Amino acid sequence: MDPVLNPFAPGAGSQPPELAGRADVRETVRIHNERLRIGRQAKSVLMVGLRGVGKTVLLDRMMMDAEVVGLHTVRLEAPENRSLPALLAPELRRALLRLSKVAAAKDVAVRGLRALAGFAGKLKLTYNDIEIGFDYEAEPGLADNGDLESDLTALLEQVGRAARAADTVLLIFIDELQYVPEQQLAALISALHRCAQATLPVAVIGAGLPQLRGQMGEAKSYAERLFEFVEIGPLSVPDARAALQKPCEGEGIEIASNALDLIVSKTCGYPYFLQEWGKHAWDRALASPITQGDAEDATEATIRALDASFFRVRLDRLTPAEKGYLRAMAELGPGPHRSGDIAVALGRDVKQLAPVRGKLIAKGMVWSPSHGDTAFTVPLFDQYMLRAMPSV
Ligand SMILES: Nc1ncnc2c1ncn2[C@@H]1O[C@H](COP(=O)(O)OP(=O)(O)OP(=O)(O)O)[C@@H](O)[C@H]1O
Ligand SMILES: [Mg+2]
Repeated sequence: MDPVLNPFAPGAGSQPPELAGRADVRETVRIHNERLRIGRQAKSVLMVGLRGVGKTVLLDRMMMDAEVVGLHTVRLEAPENRSLPALLAPELRRALLRLSKVAAAKDVAVRGLRALAGFAGKLKLTYNDIEIGFDYEAEPGLADNGDLESDLTALLEQVGRAARAADTVLLIFIDELQYVPEQQLAALISALHRCAQATLPVAVIGAGLPQLRGQMGEAKSYAERLFEFVEIGPLSVPDARAALQKPCEGEGIEIASNALDLIVSKTCGYPYFLQEWGKHAWDRALASPITQGDAEDATEATIRALDASFFRVRLDRLTPAEKGYLRAMAELGPGPHRSGDIAVALGRDVKQLAPVRGKLIAKGMVWSPSHGDTAFTVPLFDQYMLRAMPSV
């Protein structure tokens, strides 16, 4: 069928034509936001899940949901090598400038900008990646200790007061939160804790790989009570079917029920795979309805496309030793696997392999669902490894 009209959208962060199965979590976040707006307690929400399950698109959709009802938002993505204060400072500046345009919030927001000047000015010595213009002079003693935890707390409190004065909520959306180093994560948690105690309308809506939950707990033991963790996983069978069917219907095209069965079963309901399979099945089909045969014929092109994009980018960032470790895991199956079993497969001992495993965790390739277990963060990665490295 006409590829120009193909509705499917495989790609990192590409909004899907139908955001299936996420109504509940959007509603949870909506309720939290509205509670904050009227001065009630609400936890910050963190979404955790494997690669390609749709965390980024969900975060972006939630941001739109919030903006539509007049809330203020900022968005950042934590890369592996930039500090959290460097990412936060310019975004908070923008938010404060916007809040300063609201008459009732002007003075408080300006004080927030002074806090920001103190914050960034002092912390530049520690985090030399902070780059930001100053609009107002720093106020001595306000967010300028040079200690991230206390300064971020003072700064977010000011931001919260400005948001309250403007009768709104400031939501800080952070993607890839698992890359934020522990001490910076601790500072963020502590600052949010203070805002929650003062019922200030500031919250984080974050997303990250499954290891984020453990990282938060390590950073601050009370994190579990301050945040609501929501697991984002593969779609249920009806949701996965809807993710394929609705976009086709939107274009006036039918897709046969057994074609849906086949794609849902081959993709295990993982959103990225659904988009890729849907796209190739559409391109294969000559006319409506898209048949099971079309879906079957799309297999090879789909897997080739996934290998070249979704999987390949992960593998390219690894050293030979790291690849070898993942290949040994793949040999054992989808996982999770005992670290001891992986070591046996490699003919080494667990201690020797600990640094390699540590690097793979830091790069977000694997995580530890429970002590001594290792699992892939990319769904179906075991099958890919066997394709990419047929022999060891
Ligand atoms: N609920 C959904 N229904 C249908 N398709 C979806 C859904 N969520 C995400 N997708 C599709 O899945 C793909 C991956 O989405 P996204 O980039 O948000 O995943 P992610 O969890 O952020 O992955 P990563 O951890 O690699 O950043 C995109 O092509 C997107 O269109
Ligand atoms: Mg993402």
